[in-house]
Amino acid sequence: MEQNSSLFRKKSVDQILKDAHSVEGSGLAKILGVRDLVSLGIAAIVGAGIFSTIGVASYNGGPAVSLLFVFTAVACVFTALSYAQFASTVPVSGSAYTYAYVAFGELFAWIIGWSLILEYAVSNMVVAISWSEYFTSMLKGFGIVLPGWLTVNQETAAEAFAKLQTVGAEMSTYEKFAAAAYESAPTIGGFHIMLNLPAGLVTLLITALVYIGIRESRTASNIMVVLKIGVVLLVILAGAFYVKPENWSPFAPNGIKGVMGGVASVFFAFIGFDSISTTAEECINPQRDMPKAMIYCLVICTILYVLITLVLTGMVNYTELKVSDPLAFVFEKNGLDFMAGVISVSSVIAITSALLVYQLGQPRIWMTMSRDGLLWKRFSKIHPKYQTPSFATIVTGFVVGIPALFFKMDFFVDLTSVGTFFAFILVCGGVLYLDQKGISKQSKFRVPYINGKYLIGILFVVAVAGILTYGKGVIVEWRTLTFMELMEHKLLTIIFWIVWCSLAILGFQHNFSLLPVAGILTNLYLMTELGSSNWLIFVIWLVIGLVIYFSYGYRRSKLARSGQSAI
Ligand code: ALA
Repeated sequence: MEQNSSLFRKKSVDQILKDAHSVEGSGLAKILGVRDLVSLGIAAIVGAGIFSTIGVASYNGGPAVSLLFVFTAVACVFTALSYAQFASTVPVSGSAYTYAYVAFGELFAWIIGWSLILEYAVSNMVVAISWSEYFTSMLKGFGIVLPGWLTVNQETAAEAFAKLQTVGAEMSTYEKFAAAAYESAPTIGGFHIMLNLPAGLVTLLITALVYIGIRESRTASNIMVVLKIGVVLLVILAGAFYVKPENWSPFAPNGIKGVMGGVASVFFAFIGFDSISTTAEECINPQRDMPKAMIYCLVICTILYVLITLVLTGMVNYTELKVSDPLAFVFEKNGLDFMAGVISVSSVIAITSALLVYQLGQPRIWMTMSRDGLLWKRFSKIHPKYQTPSFATIVTGFVVGIPALFFKMDFFVDLTSVGTFFAFILVCGGVLYLDQKGISKQSKFRVPYINGKYLIGILFVVAVAGILTYGKGVIVEWRTLTFMELMEHKLLTIIFWIVWCSLAILGFQHNFSLLPVAGILTNLYLMTELGSSNWLIFVIWLVIGLVIYFSYGYRRSKLARSGQSAI
């Protein structure tokens, strides 16, 4: 029997719906329909990932990265189905945080809410920095050159400057620019003052837009999405004429390792389909529209991504794609400067809309956590005139804008991906809980049920047999490693196999639904490819979160104070 003092105290679906419609929870404007949701979803998904990080992923993996997009999309579809079931069962703004509260209890809910900061606020730092790079290069196209020290962060510039001093180092155009910016920056006591002003300013502007209203945000997002999709289609259709099929051979020049090296970038490009669940309280009919919208935008984006990757890797040799603006670059390379310019401008628009959605999502998650007593009450304050979570929106502006002014983006990409995979895995696992407790019967949308009783185990045996038969190289590699080396380099893979084996046993006992299990395993597999240093940073992040929970939320939680708990 659960106690209200338990770390795993849960909220029932009825309780969550009641809280969301109580005095403090009401007040959000309900105006979003399925078209708006698809638009918000695409606005969130298509951004820095496809316009920027796909370049390096294609350079490492070659044309076969298009298959990684398909594989990652499959993992995302399993996850989207799970999100859709939750969104139709508990249509409130907290997204995965709220779902974990129902399925796994308060401690996990907090952990997920804390991880979602990585998906929303931290990913938006990446998006803001990437926006700034495109923006400054677009301005250059129009002949306006901002002072270097106001557009590059100190670390990037210092590294570029150090590289410049290294004899024989090959420098990209951007690195040369950053090194020059470092040299010309004003200094205080030898310290070079540098900041990414456009990244900070765009965050400020978008925060102001999100603050003044969901209507304004919706209109801005709808306009940007139409433009964005138009340009993406233009790239695909125009680029198709310049594809040289010989560029697709070899298809995977660096083997599976090269392709999997792009996991973080490819996954980053898909992040966002789940973000529409944070607007559930602003939907006219969330139970009907959320599931549809999530699946629609995932299908649309997957098709666009695979086509774009094939066009990019078909237009130039993959070895040339190590650039941060690959879409514009391939056209420039084919002598189509006008198209390259159009793409440059449109990238700025595309990335702006992604920025908007995450800036919209983060305060709504905090708002829900605050309603539950896990965060300070001010986070759930709704602006009387603008009907938006005003305080939480302003805090989001600072949390995203300040690091974007000073830090490098690479580190944040991996961190965002680890946190998001973790949230996705728990949401898929949560559906298994809904099934077991019979709550799925209340869901207006259910993940299609395929009985996994035997299938999860059979697939496990087939996979192990496949490795023993065809993976001789892998087995030889593992045999050469000592126990400590195995722990250091293969721990994540070992965890993956243990989880699969455990799910096979539990699935046999409880007739688990196959698709959520497939979601857990595909996400976990992709997560293992991210490397142990990212996991370590993620663990540190979780520890900080737990310290905050135990010093505040554990005692102030509404559930703890009311003495209620769903079993
Ligand atoms: N999917 C989002 C982007 O690529 C995070 O910008």
